[in-house]
This record gives sequence, structure tokens and C-alpha cells, in this order.
Amino acid sequence: MYAENRMMNDPLKVLEGEHRVIEKVLKVLKKASENIKAGVNPPVEELKKALEFLRMFADKCHHGKEEDILFPVLESRGVSRSGGPIGVMLQEHEQGRNLIKKMSRAIENIEKGDKNGYMLFSENASYYVELLEAHISKEDNVLYPIGRKVLNEEDFGKLLESFEKIEEERMGHGVHEKYHEIAEELSLKYI
Ligand SMILES: [Fe+2]
Ligand SMILES: [Fe+2]
Repeated sequence: MYAENRMMNDPLKVLEGEHRVIEKVLKVLKKASENIKAGVNPPVEELKKALEFLRMFADKCHHGKEEDILFPVLESRGVSRSGGPIGVMLQEHEQGRNLIKKMSRAIENIEKGDKNGYMLFSENASYYVELLEAHISKEDNVLYPIGRKVLNEEDFGKLLESFEKIEEERMGHGVHEKYHEIAEELSLKYI
């Protein structure tokens, strides 16, 4: 019973669930990037949608929960930041943000009529997919399992509560679902 309760109230499951949604959009991005390299440019509106998803759902919401809530709690339980797994994760979030900026600039170029914008987008999208796929795998297979070892029941409860709070405050009520729909809509078109 105890184990069952712990499973049901596992905040890391929430984050793993978000990884699965992010992965859908990474597949879309990979396909879009391959299409561009093959000379087939996707509608710019769809690239913008994928980018909005990455900026809002993947970065602001998901990475926000990790950086502002999960990582500090893990640190308080002895998981090291500098030179340890948390430091690496933070660095990768930052690299992801830089690539989002580059993709965003590429879209601005496309909209100004510069056809090279597509290649610029494709290049940075490929880097982003590679980075995030490896990042997610490290969290799923290394960092979160460490979390399950070091966090106690009380930490679990507090994390879940804080995750819900961050959703309401930063994203707004019901916005999370909107991004699930965007991920689904894009993956139906591309995958
Ligand atoms: Fe992360
Ligand atoms: Fe993550």
C-alpha cells in the first residue's frame, strides 16, 4: 500500500510524462529539419508553433519546475550542483535556450524573405533535438532515479504542490492542456 501510494504521488512521474510530450515535438522538429534539408520547406506557421511549444512548455514550464523546484530540493538532500548531475542539467538547459534563440532568429529571417533562414532553422533544430534527447535520457535514467532514492515522502508532497502552483502562476489555468494539443496536432502532421 505504501509503495502504491508513493507511486501515485510521485512528482518525478509528472516530469517523465512531460518528457514524453516534449519527445513528440522533438520528432516533429527532426522531421521538419530533414524536410528542409531535402528541399521541402514546411509552412513557417508550423515551425513557429513548434518553437512556441519549446519555449513555453519545454523551457518555461518543464525546465522551470526542474530549476526552481526539483533541483534545489535535490541539492538540499545532498545531490551536488557544481561538478555534479545538476550542474550538467543546468548547462544543457542554457544551451537549449541559446538554440531556441537561434531558431527564433532563423524564423525572423524566413519572414523577411531570406530563404537561407530555413537552412539556419534546420541546422539549429537538429542540434536542439540531439541535445534534448540526450538530456531527457540522462534525467530519466540517472537523475530522477537518484531523486527517488534521496527524496522522502514529505519532499514528494511538497514537490507536487509546488509543481501545481508553478503551472497556475506561470502558465495559467488550463494552458498546459493547450500545449498537449499543439504537440498532438503537430505530430499528426509530421509523424
Ligand atoms: Fe532538464
Ligand atoms: Fe526534464
